[in-house]
Amino acid sequence: MAKITGFSGSPRKNGNTNFLMETILKSAADKGWETDFVLLNKADIGFCEACDACHKSGNGCVKKDDMTELGEKLKESDVWVLGTPVYWWGPTAQMKVFMDRWYGLPRETYQNKKVILVVPMEDTEDKTASHVIGMYQDAFDYIGVEIADIIVAKGVLEAGAVQSKPEIIKRAEATVDKI
Ligand SMILES: Cc1cc2nc3c(=O)[nH]c(=O)nc-3n(C[C@H](O)[C@H](O)[C@H](O)COP(=O)(O)O)c2cc1C
Repeated sequence: MAKITGFSGSPRKNGNTNFLMETILKSAADKGWETDFVLLNKADIGFCEACDACHKSGNGCVKKDDMTELGEKLKESDVWVLGTPVYWWGPTAQMKVFMDRWYGLPRETYQNKKVILVVPMEDTEDKTASHVIGMYQDAFDYIGVEIADIIVAKGVLEAGAVQSKPEIIKRAEATVDKI
């Protein structure tokens, strides 16, 4: 069975990012996918400190934290749902520290993967999400992962505000059909 895993960079458990990600995963489960969901905010992930030991030794990162298990989850999943709200025109720190640690993962982690991006924000201007989306596009172009869909939820500030936006919820429900 194909597997889809959500990695959420939002610290708000009942926030907009998690609501949309759970909508995607529920829709995938209804269509027969195996699903998994990770709250990066609850994970123990240390900063990449650029010691380069991972590349020199070929044995991965010297830090023994939750990235060992999360690296396995990335590898065993066919599709990743990556969610982060816009924080100061960028991703949350939780998402960034997670991505920095991909530096030490083996290349096969990225092979034949697709990704769905979820990006809520308060602003209603497309350009406010442009750095987050641009970061993902350049990074996935570099590691050879295909972006299957990008869902930007504009104009959502309070936790749960996205629940009163039926058009975005429909987008999230339908995204699995694009994989
Ligand atoms: C520290 C912080 C920085 C933020 N920066 C921005 C920003 O630059 N642009 C924006 O439109 N919204 C910004 N927001 C608002 C969030 O993107 C918005 O509330 C979003 O819906 C939060 O997602 P969540 O409910 O999943 O936590 C910021 C919120 C916080 C807490």
